[in-house]
Amino acid sequence: MTTTYKIAVIAGDGIGPEVIDQGIKVLHKVAELDGSFQFDFTHFPWGCEYYAETGHMMAEDGIEQLKQFDAIYLGAVGFPGVPDHISLWDLLLIIRKSFDQYVNIRPVKLLKGAHCPLANVNREDVDMLFIRENTEGEYSGAGDWLYKGQENEVVLQNAVFSRKGTERIIRYAFETAKKQGRSLTSISKANALNYSMVFWDQVFEEVSAEYPEVETASYLVDAAAMLMITDPKRFEVVVTSNLFGDILTDIGAALAGGIGLAAGANVNPEREFPSMFEPVHGSAPDIAGKGIGNPLASVWSASQMLDYLGHDNYGKLVIDAIEDLLMENTTLTPDMKGTASTSEVGDRLVRII
Ligand code: NAI
Ligand code: MG
Repeated sequence: MTTTYKIAVIAGDGIGPEVIDQGIKVLHKVAELDGSFQFDFTHFPWGCEYYAETGHMMAEDGIEQLKQFDAIYLGAVGFPGVPDHISLWDLLLIIRKSFDQYVNIRPVKLLKGAHCPLANVNREDVDMLFIRENTEGEYSGAGDWLYKGQENEVVLQNAVFSRKGTERIIRYAFETAKKQGRSLTSISKANALNYSMVFWDQVFEEVSAEYPEVETASYLVDAAAMLMITDPKRFEVVVTSNLFGDILTDIGAALAGGIGLAAGANVNPEREFPSMFEPVHGSAPDIAGKGIGNPLASVWSASQMLDYLGHDNYGKLVIDAIEDLLMENTTLTPDMKGTASTSEVGDRLVRII
């Protein structure tokens, strides 16, 4: 019997649809190779164009519509003309929060053939797995804007660290490190953030006591930013807050071959709701419509989807195909100093697979 995975596709804005198409090609190819499962993609036209027509980033019952899917595959949202805080909050962040996708998994791994800007670094030294808190912290959306436009204007942007939220992300990271037999590094900032990050560090210590077999380290975020550049091999599995994870994984993207290669999964580990897979990059309006966006980040996130669906053998196959493509160095997009188009890269990957 064939299993059918129902995938909701929100290709979104800018290069989103161009790069997502390549991931879809790859997923179809993998399913064809296996024969025991197939993908059924449903496309949702949500994003900034939809906003221009309707005044909403997604359908009003969008969350309800998405609930029935096995997973969500997202390109990017955001385009000049719609304020970024609207496009981000009214689609991406709403999905992450409504579906309790509290784990954001972002691999920072230097693949064979990918370019690292650091001198004298071994490929194996850049192999981190970031586990970023994804539903609260600095991106909780709690705050206020008082006396707007007046002389006494005040804005408040609160960070929210609940015990439940902090414990579960740290525990997830310990479980991952234990499973992988690797160390776990916590990144915080308890010297300056004297409530939230003191609490974070305390919870990290508490949960750590349950995992004596996992080697741990703990850094302040500013030092961690430096150490990622000067000594990347220190970092194996990493757990950090929403904001810090957002920033540090862009450094990670630069270390591991560029933003065109950086992928992320937004996971609800309990599988009560669908998880969402997306490239880390945005809609790249500067190159949108030219057919030159690098699809490798999207394809990598498709491989994370395969892992999540229980087909990690194919997840690995897709990563191997990306490595082969990087190594042959003939079919790459301009951001990787190549001359190929987005769809040529997708087609080449399908052939390699
Ligand atoms: P961006 O990631 O879209 O672009 C930054 C730079 O990297 C640009 O020069 C772009 O051309 C390049 N780039 C990004 N992805 C690329 C790819 N796959 N291939 C080749 N080059 C690539 O970030 P930016 O410019 O800060 O934001 C643009 C829009 O995207 C904004 O509206 C922003 O809010 C939105 N955005 C959305 C995200 C999401 O939906 N998850 C994440 C980040 C930004
Ligand atoms: Mg980001």
